[in-house]
Amino acid sequence: MIDRATIDKILDAANIVDVVSDFVTLKRAGANFKGLCPFHDDRTPSFTVSPAKNYCKCFACGEGGSPVGFIMKHEQLSYPDALRYLARKYGIPVEERELTAEEMQSKNDRESMLILNEWARDWFQHELYDTPDGRAIGMAYFHSRGFRDDIIKKFQLGYCPNSRDHSLGADALKAGYQEKYLINTIDEKNPQNSIGTGLCIRNEKGQLRDRFWGRVMWPIYTMSGRIAGFGGRVLDKATKGVNVKYQNSPESIIYSKRKELFGLFQAKEAIRKQDLCYLVEGYTDVMAMHQNGVENVVASSGTALTRDQIKLIHRMSSNITVIFDGDEAGIHASERGIDMLLAEGMNVKLLLLPDGDDPDSFARKHNATEFQQYLATHQVDFIQFKTSHIMEQAQGNPVKMRQLIGGIVESIALIPDEISRMLYIRQAAQTLMVDENQIIRAVGNQIAKNRDELRKEQERELRRNAFNGKPMPESEGPQDESTETEDNTISPPQTTPIATNQISRTNSREVLLMQMIIRYGERFVCNGEDDSGNSVPLNLIQFVYYNLQVDQITLETPEFRTIMDEAIAHADEKDFQAEKYFLNHEDSRISNLAFELGTDKEQLSKIHFQDKKEEDISHAQLFETTTHLLADLKLSIVRKKINQILTETKKSDIRKNKETYRDLMCQFQELKMIERELAKKCGDQVIMR
Ligand code: CTP
Ligand code: MN
Repeated sequence: MIDRATIDKILDAANIVDVVSDFVTLKRAGANFKGLCPFHDDRTPSFTVSPAKNYCKCFACGEGGSPVGFIMKHEQLSYPDALRYLARKYGIPVEERELTAEEMQSKNDRESMLILNEWARDWFQHELYDTPDGRAIGMAYFHSRGFRDDIIKKFQLGYCPNSRDHSLGADALKAGYQEKYLINTIDEKNPQNSIGTGLCIRNEKGQLRDRFWGRVMWPIYTMSGRIAGFGGRVLDKATKGVNVKYQNSPESIIYSKRKELFGLFQAKEAIRKQDLCYLVEGYTDVMAMHQNGVENVVASSGTALTRDQIKLIHRMSSNITVIFDGDEAGIHASERGIDMLLAEGMNVKLLLLPDGDDPDSFARKHNATEFQQYLATHQVDFIQFKTSHIMEQAQGNPVKMRQLIGGIVESIALIPDEISRMLYIRQAAQTLMVDENQIIRAVGNQIAKNRDELRKEQERELRRNAFNGKPMPESEGPQDESTETEDNTISPPQTTPIATNQISRTNSREVLLMQMIIRYGERFVCNGEDDSGNSVPLNLIQFVYYNLQVDQITLETPEFRTIMDEAIAHADEKDFQAEKYFLNHEDSRISNLAFELGTDKEQLSKIHFQDKKEEDISHAQLFETTTHLLADLKLSIVRKKINQILTETKKSDIRKNKETYRDLMCQFQELKMIERELAKKCGDQVIMR
């Protein structure tokens, strides 16, 4: 448990703009900030961050929350773990005692695996720095490749020994980690559902062995700096029986090769600052670039670029420069990647390195200044890239030329933004010396064709699902490599779904009352009397609560009952602020509701407060409005009861029983009186429409 005072300290420190900015680049938009939503496939910034409310929300998919709520969702953490995350971020000490076995158990699989990976990173580092083998083999290897000590530290590289005496697996078990998290229980159909880090494997004899024995280690970070997995490289004099140069952690619930970008965590700040991201292939390329002073760089780790990876980059910047090591196969394979980047709405530049160099080898031949100079002067956009490359081959051959133009048209047609499309069309016309209108027409046709294909594909999908009786699949990636290309099919911008998970608002009277509670709950409204007849000040929460209690009214909406119960429990605390409290609520339905109730000010402001500023509303006005709303709520309840009684009295069996009938009539009279009184209180003013 984290104590209340520390929780408050964390909540006070956590700034929503700060917190979200770790994952999304935000741009100012009036009083708010906007960025691409991290929770759905967003191409136009729908994610709004309100510094005033310290809250964020996507107006397309409805996801969002307070700083804690956002971290819970984005990092898939429990409430206390999200608080710990924020405490770390803001340097707030949290008293942590050793976890009991039970608490350890209660950590979910994800969290347990992440913790184990962090422990393993430390273990690999210890091996590298503090053992003779680590220094003589691992460190010597890194040095032989020209990596500086500060860079080796920065990327937290390590070494996994090839030793009979000790292993990571044995040490981990000794340290109390569970075997099920050490190995990886493969879910054949769905590798992404597998549990366990796969740091160890069971060999044929059933012995526990380190997967990465004899390799130098690269931790692979998530965007927030947790460790999703590792990459391990064999040393050049390859250990016997090993022929895979790089070995990666197996797919699991925390690691998917297609979804991670190596170096993103270390590059985030620089990408944001420069508003540009370099994309390279390998771990060593990323490190070489850092070593040469270029930090805005990530690696796709040898696989073809995926949509998930592109989305991660796009959240930080719309500008990307893809660096190739210039061989023909690489260039060809990358065309698809370029098209995917264009379709995602990215501004794509390309950079070819000379003589089959990759960034790593190129960097070793040049100093930092030369390296950066080369990057700055050799980037070209995709039209230039495609034309210069293919023009060489075409050599005036008309068939080749037509193919070239066709390829460029296909690429341009993928760009979602019309203005960018026009600019590229103009440029292509000039470069290729073709009539602009001709290209405009061709692009138009291509767009129509794409749309047609997408529609057909969707229809096929629908039929398939109707046939299987399955719901539409989520936009998750495919499970095996063979379908990878299919998943990456480029689709034109789609309309986003409307907000979900909103609580039905059938009872509009309760809604208005709750808006008062959220917005003005802690404000003084009037004096009341305690049991011994002393005058005590009442705030709005207490005023509403006692009023409802007197008439034994319970709110119909369950979430509102929760809000009311918690509000009254805290109402007498000094400095209690209802809106802040509920925006930071652990239950995201409550915090979301609080946000909506606090934002949707129109009804209250227009009808009751003539658009006054919050601080200009006097307690007398608050009192009057609340009294009105309460009376109105009660009136509606009384009227409902009256109607119920009327229906009862019409029933024949009740009419026959004089006793019951008279009882009902008495109740009816009484309710009618209350109704008249309440109606007077409500006045003729229409509160509800
Ligand atoms: N890779 C992999 N498995 C392999 C080969 C490569 O996962 N068998 C990934 C690694 O992430 C690697 C990247 O693909 O960093 C690029 O591969 P490559 O160019 O072969 O590696 P380099 O980074 O050049 O590695 P090195 O210079 O150490 O040979
Ligand atoms: Mn290399």
